[in-house]
Amino acid sequence: MTDRPDDPHIDAIRRRYHAVVERHAPHASALKWRKSRFERGLRLADEIESRVGSLQGLRVLDVGAAHGGDLSAMFARGAHCVGADMFDHHYDELVGGVGQGSPYFSMTRFDCLGNWPLRSDSFDVIISLGVLEIVDDLNLFFSEMARVLKPSGLAVAYTGTALRMIRRDALYKLPLISVLPTRLRRLVAEKLFHRVYRFPVANHTFYSASTLRRHAKTVGLDVCPQKYARSDLMQRLVRHFAFDFVVVTPQPKQPSVRKTQAGTAEHVSS
Ligand SMILES: C[S@@+](CC[C@H](N)C(=O)[O-])C[C@H]1O[C@@H](n2cnc3c(N)ncnc32)[C@H](O)[C@@H]1O
Repeated sequence: MTDRPDDPHIDAIRRRYHAVVERHAPHASALKWRKSRFERGLRLADEIESRVGSLQGLRVLDVGAAHGGDLSAMFARGAHCVGADMFDHHYDELVGGVGQGSPYFSMTRFDCLGNWPLRSDSFDVIISLGVLEIVDDLNLFFSEMARVLKPSGLAVAYTGTALRMIRRDALYKLPLISVLPTRLRRLVAEKLFHRVYRFPVANHTFYSASTLRRHAKTVGLDVCPQKYARSDLMQRLVRHFAFDFVVVTPQPKQPSVRKTQAGTAEHVSS
């Protein structure tokens, strides 16, 4: 569980990760944010382990890994980690500092809005946090996720919903605008308030998990909105509109059914 403050191995990886981000954070609040990603990674690792068992030896991919905090936490839990991002967030230093020569901690760079240069069925777990909001072609994104994920695998993704961001839009740092359809939200934030988000914001509006579910379904993935296990009942009730993350899993293969001559259904294994 996350509250294992004295786990010396986790603490050692945490210190290595901190040492790397301390070298590059432009100011104190950025440093605090980057460090917080390691703790979130541990929380997510708890959530993932409660669903798939120990992360020890499982192959984990983080799409949009940024400074690698979440991924470092997964590595601390024994996962074999690959981080992916389009930009180089000091990856040589991250790999050297956190991985220290381990073959199980690496970073790769590609544009996740296109096809992913990764083998099919090669990851047990995929995480992608704070990336969906820049993905215009969600069908392609989910189809790459489905392809790269093992059939028994599980993915965890996050993007802010309108309700969750009502007090402060995560991209534009303004109150209330998250309830607007994204095209209008972008217009108001960028033209009226001269706010900029550093990546091009896609057109989807995430009022609930339904948008993600609809796109994921087309490529055989299920999406289930979730709150962290320790959330109270009230929060869990609104998880569809204000999830902490969604769990994405391959839909179980349906056996095809054919009609027998007698008109009854017969299952056919594929
Ligand atoms: C908002 S940050 C999220 C970082 C981290 N996952 C988190 O939740 O803190 C989005 C990340 O996606 C990366 N990114 C942006 N456009 C991308 C693209 N087209 N392909 C791959 N990564 C991209 C950025 O470099 C950045 O690290």
